[in-house]
Amino acid sequence: MKTETEIIRVFTYTFLAFMAMAFVLILFFYYSRKKIIKHEVDKKNLEIQHQKEMIEAMITTQENERERIARDLHDEISSKLNVVSLNSHLLKTPNLSSNEIAEITENIADLTSKVLESSRRIAHDLFPPVFEKFGLEAGIEELIEETKSTGKFQIYFQNTIDFSQLSNEIQLSIFRILQELFNNTLKYANASKVQISFHHLNEKKQFLYEDNGVGFERSNHTKGMGLINIESRIGVIQGKFSIETNINQGFKIEIIF
Ligand SMILES: Nc1ncnc2c1ncn2[C@@H]1O[C@H](COP(=O)(O)OP(=O)(O)OP(=O)(O)O)[C@@H](O)[C@H]1O
Ligand SMILES: [Mg+2]
Repeated sequence: MKTETEIIRVFTYTFLAFMAMAFVLILFFYYSRKKIIKHEVDKKNLEIQHQKEMIEAMITTQENERERIARDLHDEISSKLNVVSLNSHLLKTPNLSSNEIAEITENIADLTSKVLESSRRIAHDLFPPVFEKFGLEAGIEELIEETKSTGKFQIYFQNTIDFSQLSNEIQLSIFRILQELFNNTLKYANASKVQISFHHLNEKKQFLYEDNGVGFERSNHTKGMGLINIESRIGVIQGKFSIETNINQGFKIEIIF
């Protein structure tokens, strides 16, 4: 009789111990799962925040660009055309001497050629015609020549890729990225040398850009609009990138696309 009660007691304790263990296990899984989910939600939120920042940067860049174009059109086209218009009305004034007519005509011709030159420049800034006609390679070469003409640094360019095989979207993205990289090197780097190369890398393509300028410390550095735009352009062409830079160690970016 006594052993039977003992057995029941041992059984009950064992059962209770198992239940307690099961309870602890369930609790453990519940909380660790909750933690994992929270971690994932935080990660997603960060990603969304990052995408939001990129979209905001793109919109701001577009707005700034529009403002600049509007200013250029206003200052360099509209105001000059106004004077041309005034001058042509002046020509209708009765009894003008031949000297006056010559002076007014000269003014009109002079202003018209300035307006033409400005409209060419504005169109070129918006979209380089050489890029449209001859593609990325020619676009890059022209960009290099223009940048070289500032006399600030040497540029070394190597390419083993046939750019004409790339989609227009990729070609344009690379062009805009290179424009911004040159801008930054011109503005901040105080470099004497820039190296650019395009090569095949396994199934992908590699775009390397490197300057030997002052560089910057990335940890304390807030990204500006330029770098954010570069990042979102790389995202659009489904590429990956990495940046290496530090104070006095130049700036290097590798883009794989
Ligand atoms: N090649 C470089 N050499 C040295 N510093 C650089 C270089 N590129 C970028 N930087 C630093 O990184 C910062 C961020 O660059 P980013 O292009 O994002 O913005 P920005 O040039 O300041 O502004 P924006 O491009 O909108 O005109 C710059 O302000 C500059 O301090
Ligand atoms: Mg910039």
